[in-house]
Amino acid sequence: MAHNDIRNKYIEFFNKRGHIEIPSSPLVPENDSTSLFTSSGMQPLITYLLGEKHPLGTRLVNSQKCFRAQDIEEIGDNRHTTFFEMLGNWSLGDYFKKEQLPWFLEFLTKELGLPKEKLAVTVFEGNKDVPKDEESVKIWKSLGIPDSRIFYYDVTKNWWSRSGVPENMPPGEPGGPDSEVFFEFTDVKHDSKYGKVCHPNCDCGRFLEIGNSVFMEYQKQKDGSFKNLPQQNVDFGGGLERLVAAQENNSDIFTTGIFTPIVYEIEKVSGKSYKEMENKSAIRVIADHIKAATFLIADGIEPSNKTQGYVVRRLLRRAAVKMHKLREGSRVPSYYSICRQVIGLYKVIYFSDEKISERIASIMDIEMGKFASTLTKGLKILGKMEKPDGKTAFDLYQTYGFPLEITREILIQRGISINDKEFKQEFHKHQEKSRTASHGLFRGGLADQTVETTKLHTATHLLQQALRNALGTHVRQKGSNITSERLRFDFSHQSKLTTEEITKIETVVNDKIKENLQVKMEVIGFDKAIKKGALTVEGVKYPDKVKVYSIGNFSKEVCGGPHVSFTGGLGSFKIIKEEAASTNCRRIYAILSR
Ligand code: SER
Repeated sequence: MAHNDIRNKYIEFFNKRGHIEIPSSPLVPENDSTSLFTSSGMQPLITYLLGEKHPLGTRLVNSQKCFRAQDIEEIGDNRHTTFFEMLGNWSLGDYFKKEQLPWFLEFLTKELGLPKEKLAVTVFEGNKDVPKDEESVKIWKSLGIPDSRIFYYDVTKNWWSRSGVPENMPPGEPGGPDSEVFFEFTDVKHDSKYGKVCHPNCDCGRFLEIGNSVFMEYQKQKDGSFKNLPQQNVDFGGGLERLVAAQENNSDIFTTGIFTPIVYEIEKVSGKSYKEMENKSAIRVIADHIKAATFLIADGIEPSNKTQGYVVRRLLRRAAVKMHKLREGSRVPSYYSICRQVIGLYKVIYFSDEKISERIASIMDIEMGKFASTLTKGLKILGKMEKPDGKTAFDLYQTYGFPLEITREILIQRGISINDKEFKQEFHKHQEKSRTASHGLFRGGLADQTVETTKLHTATHLLQQALRNALGTHVRQKGSNITSERLRFDFSHQSKLTTEEITKIETVVNDKIKENLQVKMEVIGFDKAIKKGALTVEGVKYPDKVKVYSIGNFSKEVCGGPHVSFTGGLGSFKIIKEEAASTNCRRIYAILSR
């Protein structure tokens, strides 16, 4: 059964049981600055799990695109991937264990045709706060799962929250015990290096987790204890790639239908066969990384040196190092044909635009073009490294674009033993040194110095003055964070801004943009700057001499810059969100559009 059919069957199965399908959220979470990526199906639904009413009701189903950056270094075995699709069904205070467990078992056995005897289930063994999950055990038994196939685990395996075990959960975070289903590949021999006895959570690869029903009914309290949420939720997640593997009874997901066209293409491009043991890991890394990068770029993330963009860069560069090795040192070719295979596999659901492969591949080509020229030289330097050396690792990163984990990985492959902590510490020491050289005199909240961030930076000054004019001179900058997409500005003020106030502030900023005011900079003594009325940020230590930026006669601030020369080219200013940042501190998100 093809992956697209499994996805459809699952959605239909839950549709028939009263669930409304919701679309996948983007891979970069909306309205959640705490996470770089959407890494589980429940993440975009968190407010509804906490009790907010969902507009589509209390039973939802979907397939969510997920990316787990923390798994990058684990890729290379037969089952881990950074990108995956998570099939999910939710009960938002509606049904609970006695519906969820039979439904999922029915889906596995009747819809996918999995033999019941190849399944094993796990349940929470209980701890001081939450009792052993006897109810799930009873249900599994009533469904014909024998005692010998029911396993008990502690919080490290059968508890789910976004932050992991209960101890790591911040106050307010929801979580709960879960019950997982595993598929047993009886042809995989247990490897005793993972322990004497094999069991569902053993890492030998005989068992594969194919679905997780989280009974999300608890919320962490400030004092560390747990209280019941106002509603009992079900958060079910099952990796589509793994369900495909179980359905095909094939323990290597890279040789199942969801990966084979990509792997064939990599074999063609690299000239190496996946059948050879020595090539497997590299081909898996390339397949996973190019697939993930394709999805991330499609969701608007381009390779860069920051946050999500840096993750895309690492994926592409790590894939390039592996490809370079497979091709025995010859130039890494365009990823275009591999990217087309990824898109072909998912076009019915995620890629309707015919031209998208060209666009994504050209972004990848530009990135690879930059790296190709330094790859060989970098590898040569790395080849000469006799022992882990943080300074050279930093040079490799800064001058040759080698992410630290690539350097580390190659050293390990060469048999050079690494004390990870010391190596990373030394690397970061050099990174810090270089920062103090390259950073401005004081914090400006600017992520980089692209045209977009520079424009938003000037707009931030206009915004601060417009806020002071509209709300009063108690308004002072408390924090600023600018990316190429938006500005974020925190300021002292007690109450929520009204719609009228927001409109007024936007109008003033837009008027000042239209007036095409000149932005002037002078370097003067700090005291003189204060006398001239330049605004400063409380709590920041300024040097004796500072830069003062004036925008016409409208705004004057002590600031590290950079800024545009005239306001006329900024575009149209819009506040997209206003919210509380902390007590007596409000936060505004705003954008500039052409
Ligand atoms: N939240 C659970 C997981 O990510 C189930 O959806 O595994």
